Amino acid sequence: MAQIIDGRLLAQKIEEQIRQEVGKMGIKPGLAIILVGNDPASQIYVDSKERACHRVGFYFEEILLPREIGQEKLIEIIKLLNENPNFHGILVQLPLPGHIDEIRVLSAINPKKDVDGFHFSNLGRILVTKRNTPDDALIPATAKAILLLLESTGVPIEGKKAVVLGRSNIVGKPVALLLLQKNATIEICHSKTQNIAAECLSADILIAAIGKPLFVTKEMVKEGTIVIDVGINRIEDKFDPRGYHIVGDVDFENVKNKASFITPVPGGVGPMTIVMLLENTLRIVKNPDIV
Ligand code: GUN
Repeated sequence: MAQIIDGRLLAQKIEEQIRQEVGKMGIKPGLAIILVGNDPASQIYVDSKERACHRVGFYFEEILLPREIGQEKLIEIIKLLNENPNFHGILVQLPLPGHIDEIRVLSAINPKKDVDGFHFSNLGRILVTKRNTPDDALIPATAKAILLLLESTGVPIEGKKAVVLGRSNIVGKPVALLLLQKNATIEICHSKTQNIAAECLSADILIAAIGKPLFVTKEMVKEGTIVIDVGINRIEDKFDPRGYHIVGDVDFENVKNKASFITPVPGGVGPMTIVMLLENTLRIVKNPDIV
C-alpha cells in the first residue's frame, strides 16, 4: 500500500514561507494573467491562481479577452504588460483559441517576466545547463512541482528509471529534462509509443501527463514504483452537483496498492503547481535579471 504524497500540505507549507517573505518586502510582487475566451476549466484554474496570489499578498490582475481577439492585438497587450512595472510576472493561460499561434504569443512575453517558463530562452536554459537545476532559470511550474513532490519522498532520484507519459511542451518535455539533470534515466512515451504498458512497467518513477482519464492501470505499474499523476480530467457524474468529478490519468484506487508513493487527484500536483507559480513570481522580484 502506497504512501500518499500530500501535495496540498506541502503546498501550504511553501505558501506560508512565501507569504512571510512577501510581508517583509518593500514591494508587492505583481502577477498578470491573460485569459482568452471563457473556457470554464481555464477560468477555474485562473481563479485558483488569483486566490493564491491574494493569500500571499501579491498584486493580481486578470486580463479577460474575447475569444475572437486577433493575435497581433494580443501581442500588443503583452507588450504593454512587459513595460508595466507593476507586473513582475505575466502568464498567458493555455490553451489559446485555434486561430492564435501559441508559440508566437508565448515568445512575445519578456523572458524576465515569463513566470510560466514557456519562452524559448527559459526552456533553452533547462536544456543547456550544468548538472544541477539552474537557479537562474524560470522553470515551468508543473515540472518544478513534480520534482519537489518526488524529493519530498526522500527517495533519491539519481540512477532511477523515470518514464514520462506525455511529451507536451508545458509538462512532459520540461519534467523529463529536470529528471535528467537529477541523474535519472529518462524515457518519454507518447501516442505513437509501441507497447506503453511494457514501458511503464520498467519505471521506478512514473509521471503521467497525457490527459487521459484513468489511463494508467495497476497492470502497468511495477511493485514499489513512485507514481506522480499530473492529469486533471472531468468525468460526467450525475450525482455530483457540478455534473462532473475530477480524476487523474492514473487509476488511483488500484494503483495505490502497488506503488510505493502516489499523488492523489485532486490534492497532489495541482496545488503544488500553483505555489510554484507564486515562487517563480517571487524569484523574479528578488532577481529581476533572472534570464
Ligand atoms: N494550462 C494548463 N496548464 C497551464 C500552465 O501551467 N500554464 C498556463 N499558462 N496555462 C496552462
